[in-house]
Formats: sequence, C-alpha cells, structure tokens
Amino acid sequence: MTRKSVIMFLAASVVGLLFSLTSVQAGEAVEGTAKADKLEQCVEPTAVMRRNHFEFIKHQRDLTVHNGIRSNKHSLSGCVDCHARKDASGKAVPVNAEGQFCSGCHDYAAVSLDCFSCHRTVPGEK
Ligand code: HEC
Ligand code: HEC
Ligand code: HEC
Repeated sequence: MTRKSVIMFLAASVVGLLFSLTSVQAGEAVEGTAKADKLEQCVEPTAVMRRNHFEFIKHQRDLTVHNGIRSNKHSLSGCVDCHARKDASGKAVPVNAEGQFCSGCHDYAAVSLDCFSCHRTVPGEK
C-alpha cells in the first residue's frame, strides 16, 4: 500500500469504529443520566421505598382516581420522571424496558405489572 492509501484505510477504520460504537449504544440506557442518579434520596427513605413503594403508588392512585385528590409526592409520573435514564443520543429509555429501574428489579423479584399499558414509561416532554 502507498502511504496515502494507508492513511485512507486508517481513516475509514476510525470512522467505521465510531459508527459501530454509536450504533451499539443507541437505545441503551447510560448510567448516570436519570435525575435519581444524581440525588441522594427518593420521595421516602430508600429502605422504606424498597419495601413499600407499591403501597405508596397504589394509595396515591386510589386517592386520585376515587377521590380526585392530587399530590405529586407519590405520583407514578414522578417515579418515571426521576428514575428513567437516557440513551447515548439523549433519548429517554422506558423505565419498564429490560434491565431498567422498575423492571430490572421486578424481573429479579418475578413481579409483573400492568401499569404501563396506560401510564407513560418515559418522562413527559416539557
Ligand atoms: C386501564 C388503564 C390504567 C392502568 C392499567 C393503570 N392505571 Fe393508573 N391511572 C389510570 C387513569 C385513567 C388515572 C387517572 C389519571 C389522571 O386523572 O391524571 C390513573 C391514575 C394513577 C395514579 C395517580 C396519578 C399519578 O400520575 O400518579 C397512580 C399513582 C396510578 N394511576 C398508578 C398505577 C399503577 C401503580 C398501576 C399498575 C399497578 C396503574 N396505575 C395501572 C389508568 C390506569
Ligand atoms: C426526585 C427524584 C425521585 C422520585 C420522584 C422518585 N425517586 Fe425513587 N429514588 C430516588 C433516589 C435518589 C433513590 C436512592 C437511590 C439510592 O439509594 O442509591 C431512589 C430509590 C428508590 C427505590 C429503592 C431502590 C433500591 O435500589 O433499593 C425504589 C424502589 C424507588 N426509588 C421507587 C420509586 C417510586 C415507585 C417512585 C414514585 C412513587 C419514586 N421512586 C420516585 C429518586 C426519586
Ligand atoms: C429494589 C427493587 C424494586 C424496584 C427498583 C422497583 N420495584 Fe416495584 N416491586 C418490587 C417487589 C419485590 C415487589 C413485590 C412486593 C410484594 O408483592 O410483596 C414490587 C411490587 C410492585 C408493585 C405492586 C405489584 C402488584 O401486582 O401488586 C408496583 C405497582 C410496583 N412494584 C411499582 C414499581 C415501579 C413503578 C417502579 C419503578 C419506578 C418499581 N416498582 C421499582 C421491587 C422493586
């Protein structure tokens, strides 16, 4: 190979490598990109959330749906806003996608939810 063709070859390899790196990462959540990743605490102490989060959301749902009472503290959209991560292109990754915040733990615990057939899985657009 001539020197020029070696340089062309190397340049093409670099472009190809960058392209394959970005295509691998598209759609994959990047650690540290959820609001929750930058905070210390949940809406209740973490140990309490770990044990009782479903009580809080179910309670909040009943208050809202049956009694029309709205508070943001335990809203499901609040969980999603804070816990959803983004992919390398800045696009939100659903909290119930495989391995993401809600489902990562539920799959492990063998819990399956029917909440996200109605509720948003990514933060709302502002
Ligand atoms: C069949 C559709 C449907 C399903 C399934 C569903 N919801 Fe809801 N949910 C609603 C509707 C409609 C409201 C009222 C929305 C409003 O008025 O803003 C609501 C309200 C709520 C609220 C209060 C408002 C908020 O944003 O926090 C919570 C909490 C909630 N749901 C949690 C859940 C959870 C947890 C599940 C799964 C166990 C679930 N929902 C499944 C339709 C659904
Ligand atoms: C303002 C941001 C924010 C909101 C809103 C929020 N969380 Fe959290 N959540 C956090 C942070 C920060 C932690 C702590 C992570 C840690 O301790 O390392 C956490 C921890 C948790 C944990 C424990 C995780 C573990 O590793 O044991 C659960 C479960 C949880 N949140 C569920 C929820 C649910 C359900 C909602 C909605 C009712 C919600 N969170 C709303 C920020 C938030
Ligand atoms: C640290 C692990 C963990 C995380 C993170 C987690 N969950 Fe859970 N979740 C559980 C476990 C374990 C149960 C089952 C508890 C039981 O039934 O005793 C459960 C149950 C639930 C239930 C009740 C299901 C039912 O059929 O009654 C809801 C609703 C729920 N989780 C919502 C969420 C949402 C929404 C998120 C994400 C914002 C989330 N969880 C994140 C571990 C987790």
